[in-house]
Amino acid sequence: MADVELAARIKAALSEVEIPGGGDLASYAGLSEVIVTPSAIAFAIAVAPGMEAAFGPTREQAVKRAQALGGDRKVLVSVTGDKPNVAKFSHGKATPPGKTKVDGIKRIIGVGSGKGGVGKSTTSVNFALSLAAEGLKVGILDADLYGPSVPKLLGLEGKSAIRDDGIFTPHEAYGLKVMSIGSMLVDGQAVVWRGPMATSALRQLLRETDWGDLDVLVIDLPPGTGDIHIALFQQTIVDGVVIVSTPQDLALIDAQKAIDMLGKMQVPVLGLVENMSYFIAPDTGNRYDIFGSGGAERAAATMGIPFVGAIPLVMSIRENSDAGTPPVVAVPDGAEAQAYRAIARKVITTLR
Ligand SMILES: Nc1ncnc2c1ncn2[C@@H]1O[C@H](COP(=O)(O)OP(=O)(O)OP(=O)(O)O)[C@@H](O)[C@H]1O
Ligand SMILES: [Mg+2]
Repeated sequence: MADVELAARIKAALSEVEIPGGGDLASYAGLSEVIVTPSAIAFAIAVAPGMEAAFGPTREQAVKRAQALGGDRKVLVSVTGDKPNVAKFSHGKATPPGKTKVDGIKRIIGVGSGKGGVGKSTTSVNFALSLAAEGLKVGILDADLYGPSVPKLLGLEGKSAIRDDGIFTPHEAYGLKVMSIGSMLVDGQAVVWRGPMATSALRQLLRETDWGDLDVLVIDLPPGTGDIHIALFQQTIVDGVVIVSTPQDLALIDAQKAIDMLGKMQVPVLGLVENMSYFIAPDTGNRYDIFGSGGAERAAATMGIPFVGAIPLVMSIRENSDAGTPPVVAVPDGAEAQAYRAIARKVITTLR
């Protein structure tokens, strides 16, 4: 069945779902568009702040109806209280949502960057594995809904499992609990999320996953400073963010923007990682500072944030990453793994 046709049938089925205060979901003004992809069905229900819990049963019913029509597609239905223009649907006294912790997770560390392609995901994965190598219970959440790459980096295939009660069961890779929207999409599929849907999908991945007890959840953030960051930092207590930058000035200027935003949102910056910092020739082992040396370290000092380490530009990082065998586990005593592990130890120290 064509995706649009299925979307229309789901919308029609939602007319049998009641909303608090009377009325049905299909004709409720806060219902978003219903998006259907080959492996997922997603829509959001915008409610007045503070009304999220009251809409719980509505959401449950909506999931059931959509699931009944959607076959083995994963159904993502979010109730969002964060859409600014929902005041007109007010169902009672509004309470500001505020930042909350995620059940079972002691610490949340984001990995961010000012611009894309600087090695954020590669760093996130190896950083998470390094924390696990220090004996911590670690999970990783791929929050890059527009370009999820964590499943590939960890060699994961197949969709995430979902329990009967609608809670996700994360994948496990090299001892990490892993959740990614990438595990719900078919290969190469482009994703176009509309703002509030993206933020509610993230909220669901974060809060409706059975993480068990974690010491640390690492979140691979999308590049830059967008809706997803703002929603995450407004709703969740994030203990801090590690910023990844390449040595080029431009990337550092972008990194500064990301750092300014964190300051405004009262999220601590745990440190700056310089990635692709220097090149080690595979034949001679000689080191080349191809972008000049010490730029990121000096920039960190100027910005008043800790410099937590440099990762060399080496072919093996790219090759191991492409193969789904991250350097920290593929060659644990190699120089690359040691560089990542040193960063993890520094960040743990900063956090304490
Ligand atoms: N230190 C490194 N040495 C060699 N290659 C690297 C290194 N770090 C990352 N790469 C490679 O650079 C590419 C981009 O890395 P990655 O996907 O981690 O970046 P990103 O910042 O997450 O990108 P995006 O903004 O698209 O999410 C990948 O092919 C990765 O294997
Ligand atoms: Mg990435």
